[in-house]
Amino acid sequence: MASWPYSRIIAHRCGGALAPENTLAGLRIAARLGCRAVEFDVMLSRDGVPVLIHDETLERTTNGAGYVAETDLAALRQLDAGVSHAPAFTGEPLPTLAEAIAACDEFGLIANIEIKPARGFELATGAAVALLTKKLWRGGTPPLLSSFSEDALAAAALAAPQLPRALLVNEVPGDWAQRLRRHGAVAVHCAAARFDAQRAAALAAVGIPLACYTVNDPARAEALFAAGVAAVFTDRPDLFAAIRIS
Ligand code: G3P
Ligand code: MG
Repeated sequence: MASWPYSRIIAHRCGGALAPENTLAGLRIAARLGCRAVEFDVMLSRDGVPVLIHDETLERTTNGAGYVAETDLAALRQLDAGVSHAPAFTGEPLPTLAEAIAACDEFGLIANIEIKPARGFELATGAAVALLTKKLWRGGTPPLLSSFSEDALAAAALAAPQLPRALLVNEVPGDWAQRLRRHGAVAVHCAAARFDAQRAAALAAVGIPLACYTVNDPARAEALFAAGVAAVFTDRPDLFAAIRIS
């Protein structure tokens, strides 16, 4: 298999289920647990600033309301992105991508940055995330950019061709080779629930790493690794003590 520098265990949405998702607290906890790699989701504020959040709306993960794409950064910064996870995280801010990259540098974490555009903002989000990541990346293992949106991936490739990209899908499509070529992508990320051993073997045969989300059972992860999977995204990095540093 081609080299996969992103670790076999990737903490999903920063610290997984152990911290409010997509927060700096999550990155801190992932690092304390010994994780080497994290994944987080990035969307644009109304004024075009890349911020960490999964949903297009604010209600589930913050004390705010409405659409991220209709809210300026200044207003997003007033929100509490921790309290809905647990009272102990009250006051945890909704971070910018710049803050998350700085925290990854500080904690020695490698990042998979998932470009998560709000509908209609695919090109702008792909370009903005790639440009800012290129600007802030200080060397070492580069952040891996991925997206369910192929438009966002294409925009990222134009803005920062030197940053590696992964095709992010539910299930590995039959035309994976053409899609990888189209985007100059180096890996495929698919849902573990849609794992297909034949497609995985076909990828492995040509040295394309496959990573699966979201796997919280270490035994399931071991089975996937045995089937040639390079890495899993997990909400429970604490359960992977034996292999989290591999
Ligand atoms: O990037 C892998 C995984 O995070 C994709 O699903 O919905 O958790 O962003 P989601
Ligand atoms: Mg994600």
